[in-house]
This record gives sequence, C-alpha cells and structure tokens, in this order.
Amino acid sequence: LLSESTRRHWLRTASAAATWTALTETLAAQPASDEAFWHVVKRQFPLEEGLLYFNAANVCPASRAVLDRHAAYLRDFQANPSFQNRDKYAELHAKVRARTARLLRARPDEIALTRNTSEGTNLIVHGLDLKRGDEVIVHDHNHPSNLDSWLVRASREGFAVRILPVTFPAPSRAALLEPIAKAITPQTKVIATTHVTNTTGLRFPVDEIGKLAQQRGIWFHLDGAQSFGALDVDVTAVGCDSYAASAHKWMMGPLEAGVLYVRAARAAQVWPSIVSAGWTGRLTGSARFEVFGQRDDARLTALDAALDFLELFGLPKVEARVRELTIYLKDQLGRLPGVEMRTNREPELSGGVVKLGLGPRNIAQVYDALYQKHRVAIAMTGSGPTSGLRFSPHVYNTLDDAARLVDAVRQSL
Ligand SMILES: Cc1ncc(COP(=O)(O)O)c(C=O)c1O
Repeated sequence: LLSESTRRHWLRTASAAATWTALTETLAAQPASDEAFWHVVKRQFPLEEGLLYFNAANVCPASRAVLDRHAAYLRDFQANPSFQNRDKYAELHAKVRARTARLLRARPDEIALTRNTSEGTNLIVHGLDLKRGDEVIVHDHNHPSNLDSWLVRASREGFAVRILPVTFPAPSRAALLEPIAKAITPQTKVIATTHVTNTTGLRFPVDEIGKLAQQRGIWFHLDGAQSFGALDVDVTAVGCDSYAASAHKWMMGPLEAGVLYVRAARAAQVWPSIVSAGWTGRLTGSARFEVFGQRDDARLTALDAALDFLELFGLPKVEARVRELTIYLKDQLGRLPGVEMRTNREPELSGGVVKLGLGPRNIAQVYDALYQKHRVAIAMTGSGPTSGLRFSPHVYNTLDDAARLVDAVRQSL
C-alpha cells in the first residue's frame, strides 16, 4: 500500500522489519512471568537512559515500531500528497476502526476516529438532545472534559447537572453504585462517568451502572481515557451507549489520536457537532461524528501500528502486568512513614493509577526533587482531598524500575 519512495526507504532501513521479527520471536520464547520478557519490552521504547517514566495516565511513549511506521506514512504522504496516493488511507482507517471494534467488542461502524478523549466526550456532551428540566448525573472526580463540558452546556441551556461526590478509597463496588441509583429521577437523561479516575485511580463498577442505565433508557457515557489499552474492555458487556478514549495514553499510540464508540442502536440520537466536506445526510453510525475536514492520515494510520504492538502481548497480559506493578507500588509506597494510599488495592476497584497522599509535606518540593535528583517522571496534585503524587506504570517499566522509584520516593520524603 505504500508508495514506491516509501517502500524504498523501508527496504533501506530493513532493520525495522528485522527488529519486529526478532522481537516477536524473542517474546514468544520467554514467558511473561519471566522478568526478562519485560526487559525486552522496555528496550522497544526510545526512552531516555535512566529516566523512570511512571506517568502513563498522562501520556505514554510510543514504541520504536509505532514511531517508525508513523514516520514512514508521514513521509509517504508528504512525498506524494496526490489524491491517488492518499486513496489508500480510507482503507487503512477502516482497518483501524475494525481492529479497534474487535478490541472493544463493538462493530466497526460504531467506532469514530477522533483526536482524543476530550473530543470524543464533547461530541456526546454537545450531540445529545437535552432541554430545561432534564438531568445529567456526573461525578466530582470526572475529568473536566466530562464535567466542565456538561456544566458549560447546562449553563447555556438550563438543564441540571447533579455532581455526585466520590468516596475513596471506596469501601465496595456497591458503595459506588448506590449513590448513582439514588440520584436517578424520571428526569435523568444521562449518566456520564469515568471507568478509572485520573484523580485517585478508582475503578467504577461500570457493568452495574450500565444495567441501571439500560433498564431506564438513560444514556450512559463512559470516559475510557484510563482504561483503553490498559484493561480488557468489552463495551457491549458494559452496556454503555458511548465510550471515549485516547491513543496516546495506555495504547502507546500516536499523539492526538483517539476513538469514540457510539452504540449503533442509539447513534442516531447524537447530533454531529462538526460537519464538513464529506457530509451527506445518508451517513449512519459513528461515521456521522467523524466529518472533521482534512485529517492527519499518517497519524490515524499509526494507530494500526499501536494495535500491532499491543497484540504482541494481548490485553489480558498487559492488564496482569500493570496490576503486578501497581500492587508492588501500593504495597511498597503505602508503608513509607506518614503517607496515605488513596487508591484501592482490590483489582475490581482499581486500574493502573496509584495516588499517594504525603500528609503535611510540601508535595511540590517532593515532586521536584524526584525529577531533579532521581529522574522520576510522575504527576502530582498540589492540594485538596486528592492531593499527592500519582504513579502510573506500564509495560515499559520493569520491576527494577519500580524498586528504584520506591527508593527515590523514600529518599525524597
Ligand atoms: C479520565 C480522563 N479523561 C479524559 C482525559 C483527557 O484526555 P485527552 O487530553 O487525551 O483528551 C484524561 C487525561 O488525562 C483523563 O485522565
């Protein structure tokens, strides 16, 4: 599918293909229970030597395989921007939609390729018909794209947004479900929540929320920024009507690429927010939400490479590895003096995000020392109930890295 100039470039840099084959063979020869497996994985990322990168919840590095393929398509596009050379991208995008659909147990026509979670969620926020008197239920731990967005629209149009407070660590799944069930009224039109929160890493009982919503015909929008590529998500089993996610987080894909799932049976209820060339009244399903004007074809195609990379392991293996690393961090960091673990330990109540409160200490000082003295790259919340340091490990982190991270935190407190 590549133009002649790109094909030649690839032949010149045939090491990329050789590396991929070697990588596949090396990984196949090692069980994932063997730490050496994860050392091989780590070497696939061009991360700076010595950098302890534990911030997957924000942005993940892309592996060399993904970067190379992205660059090859970008070069191909720029070398020959003719319609003829670009024809192939429609097919490549269709492939990405189909593969994403398989990953999420959806249908290809239920997947739109967006810029990120924020865009996907806002397409839902602004696309649903809502009027004065209607109610939308959200959580106070929702990301601004799934909280402030609703408030902005509501302040213009007069519907109500009920913001439920989140208790963390959560005592049980039921304790997360009950307040939602109680908040539902005949006026409730939407429940919009987060699969795994970026604030404290709490994982919501989405299957149960999906049932609650479905029984009452309420639209259920799920923010999947912290679950896409990290957890084995089945949107059909969850029963959500829409799910938005970014490729540049746990998927380790290109920046500014994302996906929006909208359940086929209800897609016609969402108005498109952006309409441009390519629009026809006959578009159906998620294609209606993807008429954005000129796209960055190479970037969207790089998602295909990210899916290939993920398939080297498969999501269950990724999920298990992330759990192993987070359990290690929770156990080790949680026993440091004067700290407070803000994240649940139970797998059904947590994902890849770990938040550690530091008591009365100056969080910014500890955070700065961690980067400046120890090359530890994480995230922090400076104040408020969710204050503390946030750690989010991924497949490119080894247990050695995790041990060095814990040591660095111990020395920085
Ligand atoms: C839970 C959650 N939702 C939405 C977003 C927004 O993601 P993006 O900036 O890729 O749109 C983030 C980003 O960190 C997030 O953590």
